[in-house]
Order: sequence, then C-alpha cells, then structure tokens
Amino acid sequence: MKLDQIGFWSEIKLEIIKKYAKAYTSIMSKQSWCKGYVYIDAFAGAGKHISRKTGELVPGSPLNALNVTPPFTEYHFIDLDEERAEVFNEIAGENQSVHSYHGNCNEILVKEIFPALNYDSFKRALCILDPYGLQLNWGTIKAAAELKTTDIFINFPIMDINRNILFEDFAKAESEDIERMNAFWGDESWKQLLYKEQATLFGDTHHIKIEDYQTLAKEFCKRLKQIGGENEGQRPFYRGRF
Ligand SMILES: C[S@@+](CC[C@H](N)C(=O)[O-])C[C@H]1O[C@@H](n2cnc3c(N)ncnc32)[C@H](O)[C@@H]1O
Repeated sequence: MKLDQIGFWSEIKLEIIKKYAKAYTSIMSKQSWCKGYVYIDAFAGAGKHISRKTGELVPGSPLNALNVTPPFTEYHFIDLDEERAEVFNEIAGENQSVHSYHGNCNEILVKEIFPALNYDSFKRALCILDPYGLQLNWGTIKAAAELKTTDIFINFPIMDINRNILFEDFAKAESEDIERMNAFWGDESWKQLLYKEQATLFGDTHHIKIEDYQTLAKEFCKRLKQIGGENEGQRPFYRGRF
C-alpha cells in the first residue's frame, strides 16, 4: 500500500491529537456516570506515514489512539480507500472494541455511528475529522454538534481552498470545486465573505477577491460556535484557535 509522506506540520498535528486523547481518556475514565468514551477517526488514513524530515515511519492518528492509556472503550475507523480500511479490518478482527468501516464518512458517521452517541447514551466521544481537502460536509459537523456528547477535531483544509477556491477572480473557480466548498461550508455565504462584485470597463462584472483564508477560518470558527450552542449556556462545542 502506498503511504503518505508527511511534513512537520502533520507530525505536530499527530502530537496534538495524541496529547488531547490521553487527557481525554484520563478524565473520562474517572467519570462513574459515563458508559463509554469512544474514539472516532473518520478519515483514518493508512495507519502509518513516512516522515519527510527523517524518512522514518510515523504511526498515524488511529494507531496513536489505540496506544493511549487508559484506552478508549470503543474505536471506530473509517476510510474511503478500500485498502486502507482493510488495515483496520484486520485490527478489528483481533480487538472487539475496534470497528472498521469502508466508505464515505459523511454517510457512515450520520447513519451508523452518531445514533449510538445521543445524550441518553451516557457516552462521550472524541471524533477526529482530518480530510486531505474539502471532503467533509457541514451536515456531518452539524450532526455531531447536535449530539452534545462529541468533541470534534477538524483539520481545516486551507491547501485545497487556496488552490481551488481563492482566486483573484472568482470566474477561475471550477463549478465542481464551488460545489465542494458549498458542501463543506453548508451554504454559499463564503462567496460574499471572500469576493466583491466589481464592474469592468466593458460593462460586465467580475467577482474580485477581498479577503484571504484567515478571514475564512475565523468565520468558520464563528459558525462552529453558533451550531455548538455556546450562546445558549451549553457546554462550548468549539475549542480551537486560528
Ligand atoms: C489526511 S489522511 C488521514 C490521516 C490520518 N488522520 C492520520 O493522521 O494518520 C485522509 C484520509 O481520508 C480518506 N478519505 C478521503 N475522503 C474520505 C471520505 N469522504 N470518507 C472517509 N475517508 C475519506 C483518504 O483515503 C485518506 O486516507
């Protein structure tokens, strides 16, 4: 199987998730009311990577999670790539707390995993959403927020957005990429945020870029806070910084 070569920033991401997961299970294992603390890796990957810095193998986020002590009570690993999902199928064969899925996580999370994590389940979950690009749907994030039981970690897909959406002139964006951005953002409001309509000398109009990805990321955080219900006095859904 072909492994990804990862930059130092991905190694930092893996360290952050590892530390967060360890703190999470340490705290949750002491809550007597809690009937399970669940780890979900929705874009699980190949299980390991090659470090660009050292050329050595680096365990991926699912393997790090499996090594956390105290362990999670359940693990759910999803990948769209059949060969990658098979890695976790093998682990699931040896460990009953591991569940492996092959397919689109936007469907599998909402239909198969989230329903068992509603508020009455007395379970809590840490869900890692780490796509390569714009493969995560806003509907999936919203479904996680509505559970009120699940912490999410989102890797905001700056590279895909910069390459395929953030042109000086919006006319250069392909309709297929605009659709992917709409699915990620949940509506088309990102366009008003990033572009301004401008008349040309020839009587037609262009949409010219007025903001960059940092503005977009900040606005995305606001949207997370809104669906997390922070303003309704509930537990903040969003923990993060840009
Ligand atoms: C960045 S990698 C994940 C790396 C992993 N989280 C880690 O740190 O070790 C993204 C993975 O998502 C998978 N993928 C892409 N689209 C997907 C989708 N819609 N549902 C599930 N997996 C998807 C890819 O096959 C790839 O293995």
